Amino acid sequence: MKHRSIVTAGIIAMILSMTSFAGPREDLLAQYAAAAKGSGFSAARGEALHTQSFSGGKPDTPSCTTCHGKDTRGAGRTLTGKAIEPIAVSVTPTRYTDPAKVEKWFKRNCTEVLGRECTPQEKGDWLTFVIGQ
Ligand code: HEC
Repeated sequence: MKHRSIVTAGIIAMILSMTSFAGPREDLLAQYAAAAKGSGFSAARGEALHTQSFSGGKPDTPSCTTCHGKDTRGAGRTLTGKAIEPIAVSVTPTRYTDPAKVEKWFKRNCTEVLGRECTPQEKGDWLTFVIGQ
């Protein structure tokens, strides 16, 4: 009996850890949602942001796909030819788990592509898109 209750407790702990504690990606989305005060995030808007060509940034980086590639599940490439791991969470599960890294690259890449920082709404949409990829 004692053994069985230990096993039961272990299973309950496992289920709790899977359901009740949000991961860093969910935390980030919650932060963006609070800042955006919008009507939720949309993967379709995120995809549009990802593939759209902007004219406000640097001429050699008109879109996110310039470096990250058209296929979210495939490798990207920097302008200097360095490989970038796929941005799809299904292929690179470690993606977007370090909030400081996410913020650093959003800032840098949005400035290069759009000529300005991305809004919390845009960040949330884009993350929602790649998390579902
Ligand atoms: C000039 C090339 C380039 C462009 C253009 C670019 N990126 Fe990136 N991006 C990188 C590199 C390099 C990294 C860091 C290496 C890595 O994470 O594999 C990165 C990382 C990121 C990360 C962090 C990933 C993580 O695992 O935390 C985010 C978020 C991101 N990019 C979003 C964007 C968005 C949104 C756009 C378009 C507005 C964009 N990038 C355009 C090169 C680029």
